[in-house]
Amino acid sequence: MNKKPVPYKKTVFVCTNAREGGRVACGNPGRGGLELCEALKHAVKEKGLKGKVRIARSGCLDLCEQGPNAFIYPGDEWLSGVTAADVPEIIKKLAE
Ligand code: FES
Repeated sequence: MNKKPVPYKKTVFVCTNAREGGRVACGNPGRGGLELCEALKHAVKEKGLKGKVRIARSGCLDLCEQGPNAFIYPGDEWLSGVTAADVPEIIKKLAE
């Protein structure tokens, strides 16, 4: 194992998990998880935060009914019911 400093100041983990069979999931069509992830990636690039902030897709974060879910690492806030409309506020927080 090689160890090195964390390469990003912040990482946003966004649940994009999808499920078949009618079970609710952040990445299901119409739920918004995938769209949120793409909107965050676009905004990070646009705001010049690429290389400092990483937007990472995550699997199920186990709060599916409240999704789309995301969290910022390091940090102490959990984000639920996130939509693309929340991206500017999240980006502002990431730029701090
Ligand atoms: S599918 Fe996103 S929290 Fe479970």
